[in-house]
Amino acid sequence: MTEKIEENKVNFLDYLKSFSKKFDKFYNQKYFIKNTPKYLKDSIYYVNSTGGKRIRPFLVHECAKLFEVKFEVSIYAAIAIEMVHTYSLIHDDLPSMDDDDIRRGKETLHKKYNEATAILSGDALLTDSFNLLVNNYKNIDQNICIELLSLLSRSAGSGGMVGGQVLDLFPKKKNMNSINIMNEMKTGALIRCSTCFGSILGKGSTKDYKNMYNYGSAIGKVFQIKDDLLDIHGDENILGKKTNKDKIKGKFSFIDLYGEQKAKTIAMKHISDAKDIISSYGRKGIYLNFLTDYILDRKK
Ligand code: IPE
Ligand code: IPE
Ligand code: MG
Ligand code: MG
Ligand code: MG
Repeated sequence: MTEKIEENKVNFLDYLKSFSKKFDKFYNQKYFIKNTPKYLKDSIYYVNSTGGKRIRPFLVHECAKLFEVKFEVSIYAAIAIEMVHTYSLIHDDLPSMDDDDIRRGKETLHKKYNEATAILSGDALLTDSFNLLVNNYKNIDQNICIELLSLLSRSAGSGGMVGGQVLDLFPKKKNMNSINIMNEMKTGALIRCSTCFGSILGKGSTKDYKNMYNYGSAIGKVFQIKDDLLDIHGDENILGKKTNKDKIKGKFSFIDLYGEQKAKTIAMKHISDAKDIISSYGRKGIYLNFLTDYILDRKK
């Protein structure tokens, strides 16, 4: 039994890797806008070539697959969310924010280039993501196009990721409610956006949308709990970023509030809720099921 689980985990990592490879090929081909200055192209290319787990694109693709949407259709939504995520990381690492020098095992963009280039590359990635959605979905289905745009802008903006980053940097309160709201916004919003994209692309029912929303919420919470745990116990070489940064920066995390054991127990409960939702999609949800475990097991 344990052997079977281990075997599934290994197979899943191969599956995720082969998805990332396929995704990266499209990402680099489809991204650039005609008049982009070469210098900006190079800086964005630098960030994109540093890799990343591509969890959000994977979620878009696998959730869309639940509704029979093909890779060739979901790929643009997957690229758009990764662009917004990449922008969020570039800005998150800036000296005025978390002040990090290493990301994905390489120098952060402001270190490799300079701060202005990092800010502008982030701005370009965010703005171009909307253009990419419009260009690629307006002729497929205008309603789908509008829904994708609407959700992405809400998830990225002041009531989503950016708002969460503000709460992370300037917390007013340090209690259960405030930590949960911050995590739901800074990390949960883009993960939930990825899963809901699946239902939007596949024109799922109201129940399907709710399922994708709740699934994304549950794994989004686990994702940040694990990120906070890795900040304490992760191996910098595997993680590709510095550890112990949260303490140095005086961040108040889920772990500070609950302690590690309780935080893991809470994460396990979310994992179980997430898997319950996915089980209603039968065999089609098999890789989402593996991904759900991976989010807590991961070493990076
Ligand atoms: C890191 O996200 C930032 C958080 C939201 C916690 P990822 O761990 O998905 O980063 P990459 O894309 O794999 O580098
Ligand atoms: C980042 O959270 C969330 C974002 C919106 C980028 P962290 O600041 O904890 O992410 P890492 O640890 O730098 O990847
Ligand atoms: Mg941060
Ligand atoms: Mg950070
Ligand atoms: Mg972190």
